[in-house]
Amino acid sequence: MASIDIKGVKKVYSGTVTAIHNLDLSIPDGQLVVLVGPSGCGKSTLLRMIAGLESITDGTIAIDGAVVNAKEPAERDIAMVFQNYALYPHMTVRGNLEYGLKNRGTPRDEIDRRVAEAARILEIEPFLDRRPRQLSGGQRQRVAMGRAIVRQPKAFLFDEPLSNLDAKLRGQMRIEIKRLQRNLATTSVYVTHDQLEAMTLADQLVVMNGGRIEQVGAPISIYERPETLFVAGFIGSPPMNLMPMDGALGAQAFASLDLPSGTDVVGIRPDSLVVSQPQTPSASFSGTVELVEPVGGESHVHMRLAGSSDIMIISVPGRTEIVEGAPMTVYAKAGDLHPFNHQTGKRTDTPAANP
Ligand SMILES: Nc1ncnc2c1ncn2[C@@H]1O[C@H](COP(=O)(O)OP(=O)(O)OP(=O)(O)O)[C@@H](O)[C@H]1O
Ligand SMILES: [Mg+2]
Repeated sequence: MASIDIKGVKKVYSGTVTAIHNLDLSIPDGQLVVLVGPSGCGKSTLLRMIAGLESITDGTIAIDGAVVNAKEPAERDIAMVFQNYALYPHMTVRGNLEYGLKNRGTPRDEIDRRVAEAARILEIEPFLDRRPRQLSGGQRQRVAMGRAIVRQPKAFLFDEPLSNLDAKLRGQMRIEIKRLQRNLATTSVYVTHDQLEAMTLADQLVVMNGGRIEQVGAPISIYERPETLFVAGFIGSPPMNLMPMDGALGAQAFASLDLPSGTDVVGIRPDSLVVSQPQTPSASFSGTVELVEPVGGESHVHMRLAGSSDIMIISVPGRTEIVEGAPMTVYAKAGDLHPFNHQTGKRTDTPAANP
């Protein structure tokens, strides 16, 4: 087990591409930290620098307080699980699990004990004598995790480990990873594109953009209070509606509300919009229903604002009577509005004082 401390870390590829800019991040012992952000924002680069698979251009990475910049991957005692888990096809599951330990000269009885333990935790005991091609995708993925577990590393690094699996299996594996990480309490860094994975797995969520950290925090607090326009638009599905306040439309919708000075964009989550006018001060928007997407437990209504080409997305519970082409008016309570300034890209309100 270990804490991971990243200080002023920079990565420049081939002298030209700056993939990570002066990044600071502290990961406490035993935590599961999830990195999210758009393609190319530097998630894998950061993970590979922690693992020692990529050199660090500037700054330091410390594991358990000791700087590891100059250490080889094997000396860092970290296990990585990738999307393309390359199992050895000619070896049995047991052989795959044992391989790394044998190479390190681990005593036989210790190997047997660790393999049995990992197989039990991952529920792969019935498959120990099969070869990888005789397993399903999810079973193979569990073997790949088993290989990481038997090493009893200081930390696990996961780079989109579930992205090759179908939706149902992803869901099952997500829960298994959470359970596993809780039981083993091994410090973990997990990269994903999947919002649900990010929100449900993370103790701390790290939102990255262009080689920088935009926001770090508990998933629910980031969802409830995104500090930047980027995070507001990135976290949440369907995404937050970001409404410019300039022009007649904005002025009208927000006219009666006392928004912080400097506000020129207002964010509203699709599930904060309601069809009946609240008793408390609210913003209102009118338009025409352009599309209704039933997604099961709720429906996503796309409304084109009157006199504009802007679309708002509204989440309504269950199946809806709302039909395409109909006029519609929706309301958002003042307290559900997220005020931003587009120039700074930041919120314009200050956090509420703790009660
Ligand atoms: N070996 C390399 N040489 C040069 N540039 C690289 C190299 N590897 C990555 N990059 C660049 O560094 C940036 C960050 O890449 P990285 O793979 O870390 O992104 P990522 O966040 O993992 O993206 P994705 O979600 O698509 O996996 C990108 O602009 C990428 O093109
Ligand atoms: Mg990547």
